Amino acid sequence: MKKVIIVGATSGIGRNLAKIMVAKGYKVGVTGRRLNLLEEIKSQNPSQICCKSFDIKNTSTLHQHLTELVSELGGLDILVFSSGTGDLNETLDFELEKNCIDTNVLGFTAIADWAYSFFQEQKSGHFVGISSIGGIRGNRMAPAYSASKAYQINYLEGLRIKTSKSTLPIVITDIRPGFIDTDMAKGDGLFWVVPVEKAAKQIFYAIKHKKKIAYISKRWTLIAALFKILPNKLMEKL
Ligand SMILES: NC(=O)c1ccc[n+]([C@@H]2O[C@H](COP(=O)([O-])OP(=O)(O)OC[C@H]3O[C@@H](n4cnc5c(N)ncnc54)[C@H](OP(=O)(O)O)[C@@H]3O)[C@@H](O)[C@H]2O)c1
Repeated sequence: MKKVIIVGATSGIGRNLAKIMVAKGYKVGVTGRRLNLLEEIKSQNPSQICCKSFDIKNTSTLHQHLTELVSELGGLDILVFSSGTGDLNETLDFELEKNCIDTNVLGFTAIADWAYSFFQEQKSGHFVGISSIGGIRGNRMAPAYSASKAYQINYLEGLRIKTSKSTLPIVITDIRPGFIDTDMAKGDGLFWVVPVEKAAKQIFYAIKHKKKIAYISKRWTLIAALFKILPNKLMEKL
């Protein structure tokens, strides 16, 4: 039985992905801060689900939490990083920006590094990060969020290049969602919003097929390509 940890599985994408992976026969470790939700998830299938509650901003304790969860699972093949936060922050409230950076940059890096080292030692493994289409260009409404997602995209690319320089079968997947119908999808003018169950299915497919990069849904590939080449003058009008 393959073992997976999903960091950030109390709600949204992580929770729905956990449901799919349990149904597909994986042993799943779910994490998040809301212990009551983790216990609710575990109660649905106690033999296949383990849970651990921790805040990824407390980077000094992550190592211990993850190590304990791996021993409870009896190993680790895949780690999916689905935790994340982001607020619309037109006034540039620094506390909101800091919370975003602490979670999406510092927490992400601590867990990505832990997973990479674990898989290197084990000589195999798969790290999956859920970044965002929002990381392709800057965003005036949520500057820290888009910058943090750009960081994740680049970090994941860095890890992917690192794996290609080694002979170990370590896989790095960057999932780049557009808009998914969860608590995170904020603001007006959302379009092509994908139901979270459908998004989780597509993410599972990308994991199973060891994709390097996957846009969710696929049509966002086109927007990403356009965004990359959009002249600054046009970006400034958005
Ligand atoms: N929904 C979208 O449209 C969309 C689009 C692009 C990218 N994404 C990305 O997809 C990922 C998942 O988001 P979602 O849409 O599924 O939203 P969500 O339902 O709000 O899920 C976010 C998850 O992150 C966890 N989390 C947040 N802060 C945490 C912290 N400090 N420590 C530990 N866990 C923390 C939450 O758990 P607790 O609150 O229990 O800690 C929750 O399980 C995020 O990285 C988001 O940026 C989402």
